[in-house]
Amino acid sequence: MNTILWLHGFPLTNAIFVKQLAIAGVEHVMPELPPLESMDDYARFAIGQLDLRGIEKATFAGLSMGGYICFAALRLFPERVSGLILVDTRETADTADGRKGRFEMIEKAEKEGVAPIAEAMLPKMLTPAAPPELRQFVRDVMMSTSREFVIAALRAMAARPDSSSLLPTIRVPTLVVVGEEDPITPPKDAERMASTIPNAKLVKLARAAHLSNVERATEFNAAVTQFQT
Ligand code: MLT
Repeated sequence: MNTILWLHGFPLTNAIFVKQLAIAGVEHVMPELPPLESMDDYARFAIGQLDLRGIEKATFAGLSMGGYICFAALRLFPERVSGLILVDTRETADTADGRKGRFEMIEKAEKEGVAPIAEAMLPKMLTPAAPPELRQFVRDVMMSTSREFVIAALRAMAARPDSSSLLPTIRVPTLVVVGEEDPITPPKDAERMASTIPNAKLVKLARAAHLSNVERATEFNAAVTQFQT
Protein backbone atom coordinates (compact mmCIF):
# COMPACT_ATOMS: atom_id res chain seq x y z
CA MET A 1 0.00 0.00 0.00
CA ASN A 2 1.31 3.45 -0.86
CA THR A 3 2.00 5.87 1.97
CA ILE A 4 1.17 9.57 1.95
CA LEU A 5 3.25 11.60 4.39
CA TRP A 6 1.25 14.75 5.15
CA LEU A 7 3.25 17.80 6.23
CA HIS A 8 1.21 20.66 7.61
CA GLY A 9 1.61 24.40 7.33
CA PHE A 10 1.92 27.37 9.64
CA PRO A 11 0.52 28.22 12.16
CA LEU A 12 -1.19 24.86 12.14
CA THR A 13 -1.01 21.31 13.44
CA ASN A 14 -1.59 17.91 11.84
CA ALA A 15 -5.31 18.29 12.77
CA ILE A 16 -5.63 20.37 9.62
CA PHE A 17 -5.52 17.11 7.61
CA VAL A 18 -8.33 15.35 9.50
CA LYS A 19 -10.60 15.35 6.44
CA GLN A 20 -7.90 13.68 4.34
CA LEU A 21 -8.17 10.54 6.51
CA ALA A 22 -11.23 9.75 4.36
CA ILE A 23 -8.92 9.06 1.39
CA ALA A 24 -9.02 5.26 1.15
CA GLY A 25 -6.49 2.74 -0.13
CA VAL A 26 -3.39 4.51 1.21
CA GLU A 27 -1.55 4.59 4.51
CA HIS A 28 -1.61 8.09 6.01
CA VAL A 29 1.28 9.37 8.10
CA MET A 30 0.43 12.74 9.64
CA PRO A 31 3.05 13.87 12.13
CA GLU A 32 2.75 17.07 14.12
CA LEU A 33 5.73 19.26 13.36
CA PRO A 34 7.89 20.27 16.35
CA PRO A 35 9.85 23.54 16.65
CA LEU A 36 13.01 23.09 14.51
CA GLU A 37 15.57 25.46 13.05
CA SER A 38 15.50 24.93 9.31
CA MET A 39 13.63 23.29 6.45
CA ASP A 40 16.49 20.78 6.29
CA ASP A 41 15.85 19.87 9.93
CA TYR A 42 12.15 19.49 9.15
CA ALA A 43 13.03 17.22 6.22
CA ARG A 44 15.19 15.08 8.55
CA PHE A 45 12.29 14.96 11.00
CA ALA A 46 9.94 13.84 8.20
CA ILE A 47 12.30 11.06 7.14
CA GLY A 48 12.59 10.04 10.80
CA GLN A 49 8.81 9.59 10.86
CA LEU A 50 9.06 7.16 7.93
CA ASP A 51 12.01 5.36 9.54
CA LEU A 52 10.04 4.89 12.76
CA ARG A 53 7.39 3.03 10.80
CA GLY A 54 9.80 1.09 8.58
CA ILE A 55 8.56 2.89 5.46
CA GLU A 56 11.10 3.17 2.65
CA LYS A 57 9.32 5.57 0.30
CA ALA A 58 6.26 7.80 0.44
CA THR A 59 4.34 10.38 -1.48
CA PHE A 60 5.20 13.64 0.26
CA ALA A 61 2.18 15.91 0.57
CA GLY A 62 3.04 19.41 1.78
CA LEU A 63 0.60 22.17 2.61
CA SER A 64 2.25 25.57 2.28
CA MET A 65 5.20 25.39 4.74
CA GLY A 66 4.84 21.61 4.35
CA GLY A 67 5.63 22.18 0.66
CA TYR A 68 8.84 23.99 1.61
CA ILE A 69 9.73 20.87 3.61
CA CYS A 70 8.99 18.66 0.58
CA PHE A 71 11.56 20.63 -1.43
CA ALA A 72 14.16 20.18 1.33
CA ALA A 73 13.39 16.44 1.43
CA LEU A 74 13.81 16.21 -2.34
CA ARG A 75 17.21 17.88 -2.05
CA LEU A 76 18.44 15.74 0.87
CA PHE A 77 16.64 12.41 0.47
CA PRO A 78 15.38 12.09 -3.13
CA GLU A 79 15.41 8.29 -2.87
CA ARG A 80 12.67 8.41 -0.18
CA VAL A 81 10.20 10.46 -2.24
CA SER A 82 7.97 8.44 -4.59
CA GLY A 83 5.51 11.22 -5.40
CA LEU A 84 4.65 14.80 -4.53
CA ILE A 85 1.45 16.61 -3.65
CA LEU A 86 2.09 20.33 -3.40
CA VAL A 87 -0.83 22.11 -1.77
CA ASP A 88 -1.15 25.91 -1.68
CA THR A 89 2.61 26.40 -1.61
CA ARG A 90 5.41 27.93 -3.63
CA GLU A 91 9.01 27.09 -4.57
CA THR A 92 10.46 30.60 -4.21
CA ALA A 93 12.16 32.01 -1.09
CA ASP A 94 10.82 34.96 0.89
CA THR A 95 11.30 38.45 -0.53
CA ALA A 96 13.13 40.99 1.65
CA ASP A 97 9.76 42.45 2.65
CA GLY A 98 8.37 39.00 3.39
CA ARG A 99 11.35 38.28 5.64
CA LYS A 100 10.87 41.57 7.47
CA GLY A 101 7.23 40.60 8.07
CA ARG A 102 8.36 37.25 9.54
CA PHE A 103 10.60 39.00 12.08
CA GLU A 104 7.80 41.37 13.05
CA MET A 105 5.57 38.35 13.62
CA ILE A 106 8.28 36.69 15.75
CA GLU A 107 8.40 39.79 17.97
CA LYS A 108 4.63 39.74 18.28
CA ALA A 109 4.58 36.05 19.15
CA GLU A 110 7.34 36.54 21.73
CA LYS A 111 5.36 39.31 23.43
CA GLU A 112 1.75 38.25 22.92
CA GLY A 113 1.77 34.55 22.06
CA VAL A 114 -0.04 32.76 19.24
CA ALA A 115 -3.42 34.56 19.36
CA PRO A 116 -2.57 37.70 17.31
CA ILE A 117 -0.82 35.57 14.67
CA ALA A 118 -3.84 33.27 14.41
CA GLU A 119 -6.27 36.18 14.15
CA ALA A 120 -4.17 37.90 11.46
CA MET A 121 -3.94 34.74 9.37
CA LEU A 122 -7.51 33.48 9.73
CA PRO A 123 -9.03 35.69 6.98
CA LYS A 124 -6.48 34.34 4.49
CA MET A 125 -7.08 30.68 5.30
CA LEU A 126 -10.71 30.42 4.18
CA THR A 127 -12.89 32.42 1.79
CA PRO A 128 -15.40 34.87 3.27
CA ALA A 129 -18.14 32.39 2.28
CA ALA A 130 -16.80 29.58 4.49
CA PRO A 131 -19.28 28.38 7.14
CA PRO A 132 -18.72 29.66 10.71
CA GLU A 133 -18.05 26.17 12.07
CA LEU A 134 -15.21 25.69 9.56
CA ARG A 135 -13.77 29.08 10.55
CA GLN A 136 -13.98 28.06 14.21
CA PHE A 137 -12.27 24.75 13.45
CA VAL A 138 -9.36 26.53 11.75
CA ARG A 139 -9.14 29.11 14.56
CA ASP A 140 -9.04 26.27 17.14
CA VAL A 141 -6.29 24.47 15.23
CA MET A 142 -4.22 27.66 15.01
CA MET A 143 -4.77 28.45 18.69
CA SER A 144 -3.56 24.95 19.61
CA THR A 145 -0.11 25.55 18.10
CA SER A 146 2.70 26.30 20.52
CA ARG A 147 4.49 29.64 20.63
CA GLU A 148 7.76 27.71 20.24
CA PHE A 149 6.58 26.13 16.98
CA VAL A 150 5.28 29.45 15.64
CA ILE A 151 8.58 31.23 16.31
CA ALA A 152 10.76 28.39 15.03
CA ALA A 153 8.67 27.97 11.87
CA LEU A 154 8.83 31.70 11.12
CA ARG A 155 12.63 31.66 11.45
CA ALA A 156 12.93 28.52 9.31
CA MET A 157 10.63 29.92 6.61
CA ALA A 158 12.53 33.23 6.51
CA ALA A 159 15.80 31.35 6.00
CA ARG A 160 14.59 28.83 3.43
CA PRO A 161 16.40 28.74 0.10
CA ASP A 162 14.85 29.26 -3.30
CA SER A 163 13.91 25.88 -4.79
CA SER A 164 13.24 27.05 -8.36
CA SER A 165 16.17 25.16 -9.88
CA LEU A 166 14.92 21.93 -8.30
CA LEU A 167 11.60 21.91 -10.15
CA PRO A 168 12.77 20.89 -13.65
CA THR A 169 14.76 18.01 -12.10
CA ILE A 170 11.73 16.41 -10.40
CA ARG A 171 11.06 12.95 -11.85
CA VAL A 172 8.30 11.67 -9.55
CA PRO A 173 4.55 11.97 -10.24
CA THR A 174 3.45 15.39 -8.98
CA LEU A 175 0.06 16.88 -8.20
CA VAL A 176 -0.18 20.63 -7.57
CA VAL A 177 -3.37 21.84 -5.86
CA VAL A 178 -4.39 25.42 -5.16
CA GLY A 179 -7.45 27.29 -3.97
CA GLU A 180 -8.51 29.77 -6.64
CA GLU A 181 -8.88 32.44 -3.95
CA ASP A 182 -5.65 31.70 -2.08
CA PRO A 183 -4.17 35.11 -1.15
CA ILE A 184 -0.96 33.68 0.42
CA THR A 185 0.24 31.38 -2.36
CA PRO A 186 -2.05 32.37 -5.24
CA PRO A 187 -2.84 30.31 -8.35
CA LYS A 188 -0.05 31.96 -10.34
CA ASP A 189 2.47 30.23 -8.01
CA ALA A 190 0.81 26.86 -8.57
CA GLU A 191 0.63 27.44 -12.34
CA ARG A 192 4.35 28.29 -12.44
CA MET A 193 5.28 25.18 -10.44
CA ALA A 194 3.03 22.91 -12.49
CA SER A 195 4.42 24.21 -15.77
CA THR A 196 8.03 23.75 -14.60
CA ILE A 197 7.82 20.31 -12.97
CA PRO A 198 7.83 17.68 -15.76
CA ASN A 199 4.39 16.09 -16.25
CA ALA A 200 2.90 17.72 -13.14
CA LYS A 201 -0.87 17.82 -12.86
CA LEU A 202 -2.52 21.06 -11.73
CA VAL A 203 -5.88 21.18 -9.94
CA LYS A 204 -7.41 24.55 -9.08
CA LEU A 205 -10.24 24.42 -6.57
CA ALA A 206 -12.99 27.02 -6.90
CA ARG A 207 -14.39 28.65 -3.75
CA ALA A 208 -11.26 27.87 -1.72
CA ALA A 209 -8.57 30.09 -0.17
CA HIS A 210 -5.26 28.96 1.42
CA LEU A 211 -6.61 25.81 3.09
CA SER A 212 -8.08 24.24 -0.02
CA ASN A 213 -7.88 20.77 1.59
CA VAL A 214 -10.21 21.97 4.35
CA GLU A 215 -12.59 24.25 2.48
CA ARG A 216 -13.07 21.92 -0.52
CA ALA A 217 -12.21 18.62 1.13
CA THR A 218 -14.43 16.49 -1.12
CA GLU A 219 -12.94 17.84 -4.34
CA PHE A 220 -9.45 17.84 -2.84
CA ASN A 221 -9.73 14.21 -1.76
CA ALA A 222 -11.09 13.23 -5.17
CA ALA A 223 -8.08 14.86 -6.86
CA VAL A 224 -5.68 12.98 -4.57
CA THR A 225 -7.52 9.69 -5.10
CA GLN A 226 -7.37 10.11 -8.86
CA PHE A 227 -3.68 10.99 -8.66
CA GLN A 228 -2.94 7.91 -6.55
CA THR A 229 -4.57 5.45 -8.95
C1 MLT B 1 1.67 28.27 5.72
O1 MLT B 1 0.46 28.15 5.54
O2 MLT B 1 2.40 27.31 5.99
C2 MLT B 1 2.27 29.65 5.67
O3 MLT B 1 1.28 30.59 5.44
C3 MLT B 1 3.33 29.73 4.63
C4 MLT B 1 4.03 31.04 4.60
O4 MLT B 1 3.74 31.93 5.42
O5 MLT B 1 4.92 31.20 3.75
